[in-house]
Amino acid sequence: MSDNHNSAGGVPTTGHVWDDDLADFVNQPPKWWMLGLTASALWVVIYFIMYPAIPLATNGTFFKGIGLPGTGQWTAIKELAEDQKVLDDVRRPFEDKLKTMTPAAILADEELSKYVERSGKVLFSDNCGGCHGQNGVGTEQVGAKFAVREQGLMAPRLNDDDWLYGGKIDDIHATIAGGRQGMMTAHKDTLSAQQIEDVSKYVLAMSEGRGDSEAAGKKVFMESDCTACHGADAKGIQAMGSANLTDRVWRFDGSIEGIKQTITYGVNSGDANARAAIMPNFTAAGKLSDVDMKKLAVYVYKFGGGQKDEAAAPVAAVEAAPAPEAAPAPEAK
Ligand code: HEC
Ligand code: HEC
Repeated sequence: MSDNHNSAGGVPTTGHVWDDDLADFVNQPPKWWMLGLTASALWVVIYFIMYPAIPLATNGTFFKGIGLPGTGQWTAIKELAEDQKVLDDVRRPFEDKLKTMTPAAILADEELSKYVERSGKVLFSDNCGGCHGQNGVGTEQVGAKFAVREQGLMAPRLNDDDWLYGGKIDDIHATIAGGRQGMMTAHKDTLSAQQIEDVSKYVLAMSEGRGDSEAAGKKVFMESDCTACHGADAKGIQAMGSANLTDRVWRFDGSIEGIKQTITYGVNSGDANARAAIMPNFTAAGKLSDVDMKKLAVYVYKFGGGQKDEAAAPVAAVEAAPAPEAAPAPEAK
């Protein structure tokens, strides 16, 4: 211990020497390491003061009396609000444009309709999916686990090209903004059981393309009130939302029993056994903004079943509000 042969460069040992060769030096840790240690200790103190540290009920460590969460005033809520603002700033130009545009104009604008599709998805699952099924598959497809089905409140598929009220963008928008409630009268008092049986068979046969094989039923159909609402061709009248009876798409139960039930008690007819079919009026419900409803119209249209508007010219005109000078220019050349 006293005989310090092994000290390298004059560094003393702790006195522990083994075999005369192996000694325990008392080297200081390197300077960079010591600096780091001091800096991190200092950082703990600064951090402790600046940020909410010990999670007390009133959140500030030193400042709980005045409710400050640290001198930096940082809170997770504030950070969220700031992030939200960044997002809002990105969205605002789009949202502002949407306010003045018609649904058709939005649909015609590729960038906007892409933007709308994304927020439409969220709006749809929050407001519509419960009845129409996520992605518009319709309640009847989802099965009996839906309470709406038990009430007979089955919402139609929206992702096909079969429309009760029309599949043009403006039709869809009108449905959402104004609601729909198709009405078919009950026939239990106006038709005999036999007539209902016959006409039901005729309807089923029509959907299978062999309507003429049911002459008795056809007679009932033509002579009672059916044609007034479904049309003489039984293809439905969009203004009434009366279903097309010649296709295989069933709004309600398409079995012979199901068809009899619909004809006997009607739809929204006030009869206790009537089928219920109420598409809520979202303007009256006040849950969705005008822009939301436009977004939803575009979103639903883009399920793929949307129908083109042959009179598409006015669409372009509306969309190109600032561009009337731009449009004639190429012609002038
Ligand atoms: C309470 C259930 C319910 C909710 C919620 C609901 N719908 Fe409907 N929707 C219906 C029913 C029922 C019909 C059919 C109405 C009828 O048969 O007269 C319908 C019809 C429609 C139609 C017309 C379909 C056609 O074939 O013409 C569209 C479009 C539509 N809904 C879109 C929406 C959108 C978008 C939302 C969300 C904003 C929504 N619905 C929310 C029940 C609902
Ligand atoms: C007052 C108008 C009106 C009259 C009259 C009427 N219907 Fe309807 N019918 C409707 C409407 C509207 C619907 C669609 C209801 C809905 O989807 O909201 C419908 C639906 C149906 C359906 C269900 C179709 C499906 O896809 O599930 C059948 C079947 C039907 N009607 C047959 C008849 C027959 C047969 C007659 C004559 C005995 C008749 N209807 C008379 C308005 C009428």
